[in-house]
Amino acid sequence: MNLPAPGIIWSSLPIPALLIDRSDRVIEINPASETFLNISAKALKGNSLYDRVAIDAPLEEIFARVRANRSALFMNDVDIGTGEKAPVQCNISVAPLGEDPDTILMLISPRELAERLGRAQQVKSAARSAIGMAEMLAHEIKNPLAGISGAAQLLSMGLQGEDLELTDLIVAETRRIVKLLEQVEQFGNVRPPELRAVNIHDVLDRARKSALVGFAAHMQIVEDYDPSLPSTLGDADQLTQVFLNLLKNAAEATKGAKGTIRIHSFYDLSLRLRRKDGTGSALPLQVEIIDDGPGIPPAIATELFEPFVSGRENGTGLGLALVSKIISDHGGWVSVDSVPGRTVFRISLPVAPKNLEIS
Ligand SMILES: Nc1ncnc2c1ncn2[C@@H]1O[C@H](COP(=O)(O)OP(=O)(O)OP(=O)(O)O)[C@@H](O)[C@H]1O
Ligand SMILES: [Mg+2]
Repeated sequence: MNLPAPGIIWSSLPIPALLIDRSDRVIEINPASETFLNISAKALKGNSLYDRVAIDAPLEEIFARVRANRSALFMNDVDIGTGEKAPVQCNISVAPLGEDPDTILMLISPRELAERLGRAQQVKSAARSAIGMAEMLAHEIKNPLAGISGAAQLLSMGLQGEDLELTDLIVAETRRIVKLLEQVEQFGNVRPPELRAVNIHDVLDRARKSALVGFAAHMQIVEDYDPSLPSTLGDADQLTQVFLNLLKNAAEATKGAKGTIRIHSFYDLSLRLRRKDGTGSALPLQVEIIDDGPGIPPAIATELFEPFVSGRENGTGLGLALVSKIISDHGGWVSVDSVPGRTVFRISLPVAPKNLEIS
């Protein structure tokens, strides 16, 4: 097959795409971007993207990381708006362009394009009610399961050999279903965080210790902490859950093989989050969970944080959805950067106000 010229592909690409140069200026925008951003290529070319378009994501930092790591980065639920247009929620992918790592290709997948707004809202609320329903079902199924497992255990007393293996299988599998149901219940149960000044290293230690005695026993966990980090404003239990989920994913990614997880905490003032109401807040506390596993399966990379999206056999797909919910309730930010051999989940959090500092 003869491929059409790149220019034709570029202009018929149905999703908004932009090329960004090394100083974060726009070099090219495709017609889909002109329509979506409601801005002409002429008006945008040569200008810095974030001067013209309101994008609720730390773009400067994202671009810098993509250039430094020469790997793609995906962000979900980013609000993008131009001038008079109400912001639209999008997923964005940012990747270095081929040989030239300074030039960046940015693709925007609008989640709620104006004309699809109604439907997208419905999908969201459908997802929400699906979770409510799943929670209710989970609760209802747990009782009869306890009965099944108890009956199998009673039966097993008079059995031997292969028959005993079968009752053991019933018990083991019901236990697995109960665990899965508990996860679903837990997902529906997240209460608003009780915000206090929290030492993030205490949280990380707690998560690390319980990971090492459980699901991450086959992993080495290296601590790389900046001990001078100030406290964050958060709910220690919920934040522990966040790091447990991230450590669990990192440990499971190796599929049982040994591997190393690095927990890296540091201060970076450059990250600011712009809120919908126009106020901004700094998120200077950074914690990265870095693993040397195979990386995130590309097929699910853009939907990682959606509930029930899993790349694992037996995965519920709720771990990262919970991470995303808890961190957004904390006013924080989650980002991912993954290539085979190195996957980084970064959590960015605010600092606790001075009068709340733990003594
Ligand atoms: N560190 C990682 N390395 C490779 N893949 C990952 C990593 N973290 C997440 N993933 C991929 O993202 C998917 C979604 O993760 P998530 O935690 O939401 O669900 P899950 O682990 O499949 O199920 P659950 O956490 O509910 O038991 C995983 O199934 C896995 O394919
Ligand atoms: Mg998980």
